Amino acid sequence: MTREEARKIIEEKKQELGRGLIILGHHYQSDEVIAYADFVGDSLELARKASQVEEAGHIVFCGVFFMAESAAILAPDKSVYIPDFSAGCPLADMAEPGAVQKAWEVITKDGAGVVPVTYVNSSARIKAFCGRHGGIVCTSGNARQIFEWAFERADRIFFMPDMNLGRNTARQMGIPEEQVVLWDPEKEHGGLGSEELARARLVLWKGWCPVHWPTFTPEDVRMLKEKHPGIDVIVHPESDPQTVDASGRSGSTARILEVVKATPPGGKLAIGTEANLVKRAARENPSLTIVPLREVYCEDMARITLEKLALVLLHLGEDTFRVTVEPDIARDALSALERMLRV
Ligand code: 13P
Ligand code: SF4
Repeated sequence: MTREEARKIIEEKKQELGRGLIILGHHYQSDEVIAYADFVGDSLELARKASQVEEAGHIVFCGVFFMAESAAILAPDKSVYIPDFSAGCPLADMAEPGAVQKAWEVITKDGAGVVPVTYVNSSARIKAFCGRHGGIVCTSGNARQIFEWAFERADRIFFMPDMNLGRNTARQMGIPEEQVVLWDPEKEHGGLGSEELARARLVLWKGWCPVHWPTFTPEDVRMLKEKHPGIDVIVHPESDPQTVDASGRSGSTARILEVVKATPPGGKLAIGTEANLVKRAARENPSLTIVPLREVYCEDMARITLEKLALVLLHLGEDTFRVTVEPDIARDALSALERMLRV
């Protein structure tokens, strides 16, 4: 299929299905895919939107698998489709349910209350694990509020899988560093001594997003500030705390775009996140100087193309691209997702 054919199919299908179809797109998608999205957002906004879809029976999710899976859980009476099942997320894959269960048994052994919190970048099984244990989901847009919610219920949080988001949130909340420990699933007992664990208020899973870490560094920020004197810098909180400190600001993809909007004409801004977002922000705001802290792309997000979007639209109503979740997993994952949406 050529790009032109793909465009024609998408336009015809959108016309034919009208309000019966909604296309959701994450900010890291390419411009040509975003052009056909009915709603674009960060993970939190997209989860909210999926839970509120009324008329449309078909939701096509242009993003990575865990996002489409969350949408399928949040909209159980709709059909949710993803244009490429192989659009995964290496960060989400770092928390494997068996290893998480083993860690949980050790972390809760001393009888202290623990609330499990999972970043939305995780599988439905991990969300279900949290749901079953009184836990909750968070995104980069609400991590602090969710941690506050969890600390109202217990003295300790077990957070997975993004160690950097966990550390950045702990720093924002003023949790002392000695109360934050890292659980390394590759090591015996997570690599932690019993005393270390006993004083931990926050146990972080050792996982990371390879697009943000160790990609962006404090040295990148220093060099950029030298090259563009007076430039402001904002990075995604999947970057490490040193880079967040050097930048001075961090936020979810939606927050980053709010900062772009609030920058007065003539302003200069460097952005440390996936380059599709940065380049689009630069094109859409010609009165600003917007540059990537480093030009990096998420290979998984890039698997969603115009041609694959057209193909999904030709197969609506069939199982080929439909995202399904086992009912018991979906039920428990939904309780963790709904807790988040209520906070
Ligand atoms: P946001 O929730 O900020 O959109 O982030 C999603 C993501 O995958 C970042 O790498
Ligand atoms: Fe996953 Fe990182 Fe890609 Fe986001 S940018 S989808 S966290 S690999």
